[in-house]
Amino acid sequence: MQPDISIKNLNKIYEGGFQALNDINLDIYPGEIFALLGPNGAGKTTLISIICGIVNKSSGHATAAGYDIVKEYRKAREAIGLVPQELNTDSFETVWHAVSFSRGLFGKAPKPSHIEKVLKDLSLWDKRDNRIMSLSGGMKRRVMIAKALSHEPRILFLDEPTAGVDVELRRDMWEMVRKLRENGTTVILTTHYIEEAEEMADRIGVIRQGQIILVEEKDRLMSKLGKKELRLHLQNKLEAVPGELTLEPVELSEDGYQLIYTFDSQQQQAGVARLLRTLGDLGIEYRDLQTRESSLEEIFVGLVNE
Ligand SMILES: Nc1ncnc2c1ncn2[C@@H]1O[C@H](COP(=O)(O)OP(=O)(O)OP(=O)(O)O)[C@@H](O)[C@H]1O
Ligand SMILES: [Mg+2]
Repeated sequence: MQPDISIKNLNKIYEGGFQALNDINLDIYPGEIFALLGPNGAGKTTLISIICGIVNKSSGHATAAGYDIVKEYRKAREAIGLVPQELNTDSFETVWHAVSFSRGLFGKAPKPSHIEKVLKDLSLWDKRDNRIMSLSGGMKRRVMIAKALSHEPRILFLDEPTAGVDVELRRDMWEMVRKLRENGTTVILTTHYIEEAEEMADRIGVIRQGQIILVEEKDRLMSKLGKKELRLHLQNKLEAVPGELTLEPVELSEDGYQLIYTFDSQQQQAGVARLLRTLGDLGIEYRDLQTRESSLEEIFVGLVNE
């Protein structure tokens, strides 16, 4: 399958000499939801801005929908919808007019039926005749998404789509993105809410200091780097981890009432059986046990701090 976005050896050095992107290579395929994660200043917005033609690259190549982002700028840009991180929403225009006008900017013939569908999908239909400046922050954000979808792009970039958005709207947004994918749209989003990536992404890329340090399918990432933890709530307090268990990855909680056993998700569960057997042999009783898997957030923090 031909990638919808293909980035080869891309570099960006800003005026003044700061290198914001360092040899980025990345392919994103049609119909994927790709989440780009990274700390502040990692280069996410720079990367998106280059692909959308807002910032010039220093070297390297990129295509969108098969078109070179520089040599075939118009065609590439037409295939892309962008919801930028910084929203410009001090507009006197009405929602309907702004969204219709956006479509026109791409040289597309008016198509009120499409604008209507987009506004309805984003729960903006009731607000279509309101001025944008009179809307709430979350609604303004939805208007920006409507504008980005006005020209029926096959690729949508969402740069921090749910920053400052309430929980309900965030869920609506996720629902909307899933619907877009069902219609075949490729979605690339950046987010600081790891939960968002965990919830939605098919693949995850982690960027740090201008370098992509990892690209992986979400499920594989979680099983590869995830840890599992077994917590045993003891009947009686222990003063120390019993000698028989000191070779196992077992820790005792501070209050002495919990034994915590950590193991790789991939590993066989043989260790758990061995642990429970040993406890039985030692006559250590427990009244409850819990297991949990590490979240994508813990994996991410581990990666970025490495
Ligand atoms: N116009 C510019 N001139 C010089 N340096 C810039 C410019 N724009 C961005 N940078 C620098 O490039 C680096 C990457 O910035 P970028 O906005 O791409 O980060 P980001 O990953 O989107 O961060 P955030 O999560 O905060 O949005 C930062 O160190 C930033 O200061
Ligand atoms: Mg950014």
